[in-house]
Amino acid sequence: MLNDVKLLKFPKIIDERGNLSFLENNNQIPFEIKRVYWIYDVPGGEERGGHAYLDLQEVIVALSGSFDVVLNDGITEQKFSLNRSYNALYVPKLIWRHMENFSTNSLAFIATDEFYDKEQYIRDFRKFKEMVNA
Ligand code: TYD
Repeated sequence: MLNDVKLLKFPKIIDERGNLSFLENNNQIPFEIKRVYWIYDVPGGEERGGHAYLDLQEVIVALSGSFDVVLNDGITEQKFSLNRSYNALYVPKLIWRHMENFSTNSLAFIATDEFYDKEQYIRDFRKFKEMVNA
């Protein structure tokens, strides 16, 4: 449920040579990473996502630029704007999500606890609502 969604703050090592942040398995994030992927070169006005996962959690970071992550638990919808490389959004399983409003040159970095598996995807919002509200 949306109550389980968390905004995370990664360590920020401030340095006049340039700042540094990091994340570790089960430390700054609540799971062990099996896969990371990133979304870039998004044309203006495009959306990504538009699905939920059966049993897969994610942490989403705007490593560069900004974008919005819109989450829906089948009842409530909430929009999170990400625009700092030391902030992240933790999204548990069974949350519908899409990403929109990508700035020019934005870079979305996503870490997950599962390998890519198309069987993990719920792509029909009506089915998703039925499933979570059953
Ligand atoms: P998808 O997750 O459907 O992207 P979005 O929901 O943002 O539209 O992935 C798009 C394509 O990329 C799809 O063909 C599967 C492939 N893909 C991988 O092969 N590995 C991955 O880790 C991810 C996330 C996607």
